Amino acid sequence: MAGMLDGKTALITGSGGGIGRAAALVFAREGARLALTDANRDTAQDTVAMVNAAGGQALALGGDVTDSGDVQALIHDTLATYGRLDCAFNNAGIAGYQVDAAGKRTAEWSDAAFDRMIGVNLKGVWLCMKHEILHMQANGGGAIVNTGSIAGLVGLPTSSAYVAAKHGVLGLTKTAAIEYAGDKIRVNAVCPGYVRTKMTEEVMARRGETILAMVPARRMGEPEEIAEMVAWLCSDRASYVTGACYNVDGGYMAM
Ligand SMILES: NC(=O)c1ccc[n+]([C@@H]2O[C@H](COP(=O)([O-])OP(=O)(O)OC[C@H]3O[C@@H](n4cnc5c(N)ncnc54)[C@H](O)[C@@H]3O)[C@@H](O)[C@H]2O)c1
Repeated sequence: MAGMLDGKTALITGSGGGIGRAAALVFAREGARLALTDANRDTAQDTVAMVNAAGGQALALGGDVTDSGDVQALIHDTLATYGRLDCAFNNAGIAGYQVDAAGKRTAEWSDAAFDRMIGVNLKGVWLCMKHEILHMQANGGGAIVNTGSIAGLVGLPTSSAYVAAKHGVLGLTKTAAIEYAGDKIRVNAVCPGYVRTKMTEEVMARRGETILAMVPARRMGEPEEIAEMVAWLCSDRASYVTGACYNVDGGYMAM
């Protein structure tokens, strides 16, 4: 049976683990050729090995999404290898504990923690979109999916700058969708709930019971469950879907 992404080339950021790695495996299963990037290039290389072992085709790239030069190099290297970029999943991100803000309320965040969170989780998405769009415009179109979050839809205690960044990602997504619909570029977001990855280990250890009590499914999501939505959004099956934010959250936002 033909894959949903047959013939397409896709770039995935933050693909060294968690949701990005799961997306790489689902995209490969659906026929895409992949450029897999992560700030930790070794972990991206591990994902490449997994994709190759499953019969897919992937290339590992390093680079920090907050660095304009790195992002331009990612696009350049992807094009040098595959000649085109059809899909992009802008997924790299960090959690509060990674900027020493775990458990801190709004007034307790340091300036540096706030700046770094916005830098990675918001500006990083914009930088990737910027260079992807410039190529896709010249190439006749494409599909971009950004990783939002339920934190892009509601406030979450002790996640101040994370919530601000994710609300920003949804704003960028909707705006770019309007701006580039005429260029046949679709831009959507996926909004995961609590998903079992390295990112959530700290918060689940701290207040997992309280969190699961707020999830109708009474369990965390698996990274693959997010990846399935992203692959569909990138595929031509979603050809009339743009500017949308799809929740994959076990019912959290319905509460
Ligand atoms: N896990 C969840 O419950 C959850 C929920 C909602 C949204 N998200 C979002 O999903 C995305 C993926 O998170 P995950 O849960 O898979 O976590 P993860 O920590 O497993 O993966 C994030 C990846 O991003 C990479 N990364 C971090 N900063 C980077 C940078 N500056 N440049 C390039 N790469 C960088 C990391 O090295 C890591 O491999 C993030 O945007 C996160 O905010 C996660």
